[in-house]
Amino acid sequence: MKKVFAVLGNPIEHSLSPIMHNSAFEALDMDCTYHAFRVEKNNLEDALQGAKAMGFGGLNLTVPLKETALSFVDADPLAAKIGAINTIDFKDGIKGYNTDGIGAKRTIEDEGVEIKDKNVLILGAGGAARAIAFTFAEAGAMVNIANRTPERAMQLAAEIGDARGYGLDIVDKGLDEIDIIINTTTVGLGNSNGTLVSAEQMHSDLAVFDIVYNPLMTKLLQEAETAGARPITGIMMLVYQGAEAFRIWTGREPPIEIMKRTVMEALD
Ligand code: ATR
Repeated sequence: MKKVFAVLGNPIEHSLSPIMHNSAFEALDMDCTYHAFRVEKNNLEDALQGAKAMGFGGLNLTVPLKETALSFVDADPLAAKIGAINTIDFKDGIKGYNTDGIGAKRTIEDEGVEIKDKNVLILGAGGAARAIAFTFAEAGAMVNIANRTPERAMQLAAEIGDARGYGLDIVDKGLDEIDIIINTTTVGLGNSNGTLVSAEQMHSDLAVFDIVYNPLMTKLLQEAETAGARPITGIMMLVYQGAEAFRIWTGREPPIEIMKRTVMEALD
């Protein structure tokens, strides 16, 4: 019988995870299928128990379930620190992981950019910023967080320990010391055409990564291009966070190129 996997969230209609994972299962000739289910927070515990009872292989969780899930799963240490779960494995109880940060890390490394000992400036202090900040700190990066509400950045930096939190005005004070900028805010999403950093504020040795992938070339990334810096689009983070989940569930090497091609075609 086919092994069933799924992403749970709300809204969920536009999730690219089903086509991405199904393309991977097909490529490896695995008898597995991946679906999307709309689930509200107050039904999450039942949904997890139901999926476990029905022998599901694993789940991804997205908005608004990632934080709530912590109460219902056995969280691995990194996911517990981040405070959010995006991947669930049922092999041994109900185990929770967070692969968002590793997705961002792999995306940047894929571009030939080292993370260890680099000065990273994370814009934003929400869920995505937490995943990236903890993962990058563990990978040996010097983590700086700048947020519209400075207190949230300072709070996150304090939780990490060896990190610094600021308001967005830090950007005006000069980015000479920064090697990698990562935007985790919604600024630049859709038609907004906004950016928190302009070309004039950048230098050409920067790698600039935007986790927003709609549009692929956000205003921030256009500014990076103008500055002669290296723009990195957010789409590979979706692929790599999914690839890590795939690895956890199946123990197999995910077919990254096929997953990437499937997602890129769907975006066209
Ligand atoms: P997620 O979990 O997806 O990261 P979130 O927790 O809602 O989302 O966080 C959104 C982030 O985008 C926050 O850091 C938010 O800043 P505040 O903490 O000050 O709210 C940031 N953000 C959203 N809109 C913004 C804007 N117009 N300018 C600057 N930052 C913005």
